[in-house]
Amino acid sequence: MKVTVVGAGDVGATCADVIAHRELANEVILVDIKPNFAEGKALDIWQTAPINLYDTRIKGSTDDYSKTANSDVVVITSGLPRKPGMSRDDLISTNAAIVKSVTENIIKHSPNTIIIIVSNPLDVMTYCAYLSAKIDSKRVFGMAGILDTARYRAFLAEALNCSPKDIQAVLMGGHGDTMVPLPRYTTVGGIPVTELIDKAQLDAIVERTKTGGGEIVNLLGTSAWYAPGAAAAQMVEAIVRDQKRIFPVCAWLQGEYGLKDVYLGVPVKLGRNGIEEIIELKLTEDEMKLVQNSATAVKEVMSVLDNMNNVTA
Ligand code: LAC
Repeated sequence: MKVTVVGAGDVGATCADVIAHRELANEVILVDIKPNFAEGKALDIWQTAPINLYDTRIKGSTDDYSKTANSDVVVITSGLPRKPGMSRDDLISTNAAIVKSVTENIIKHSPNTIIIIVSNPLDVMTYCAYLSAKIDSKRVFGMAGILDTARYRAFLAEALNCSPKDIQAVLMGGHGDTMVPLPRYTTVGGIPVTELIDKAQLDAIVERTKTGGGEIVNLLGTSAWYAPGAAAAQMVEAIVRDQKRIFPVCAWLQGEYGLKDVYLGVPVKLGRNGIEEIIELKLTEDEMKLVQNSATAVKEVMSVLDNMNNVTA
């Protein structure tokens, strides 16, 4: 298996490190536009192999996509991260141009690859990659749901003083403040979470989850990387090991949940073929309203991208 990670910044390098450390591929290629940056990061990561005892070979490349040829999976993390006071949507014009050109270069050398987008604004950058890649949407999708549910699960584990391993949850919608954690589908060791925590505390955790990315931006002055990088690597694992895992993923909807022509976070089955199934939960009217509201917010930003493309076309 060969996996490429584009963008050797904090998220990309963390993702490549986790992939190598867990031996998810024989070869990992890390690409960056900044001269020698990916080579340096890859060399540093490779030098952990004798310490951490793995044999995945990791190599860096400065913008030479021929080195990425025949990748099975590509993770795209390129683009600017947010700074305090910015929303993810503020990044659209800069990051759309970057994601478009990276995707075209990737597809040229790996026409059969599966593409996972991590760049922000996530849902719209996934749409941008889909338009640029011109391949089946089952092979172009975005990482956000695993990160957002990880935040939700971590907050719950703290509040309940229990292992995060035992918390199962699903979350839907866009990767922004309109995301929809679903307490009705959250369990702790098989027990509905609502039986273990009072409503006020659960509501506060849901709210904290929605702005979980911003909480870190405010602390660090830039966006998170450990959890985003690990979350993207977990998607790579599900694909290369054909695990058929059920995760919330940013997927192209064509009528599911009554929504059409929008990239939105929904539960899917992830395996060697990419998205192998979109799972349609039976939502209550209130839950559905929140998901629709999130879809409307994502569609608004998608139309900004469509207008930009019309101008440049
Ligand atoms: C976050 C950024 C990566 O949520 O979107 O941390």
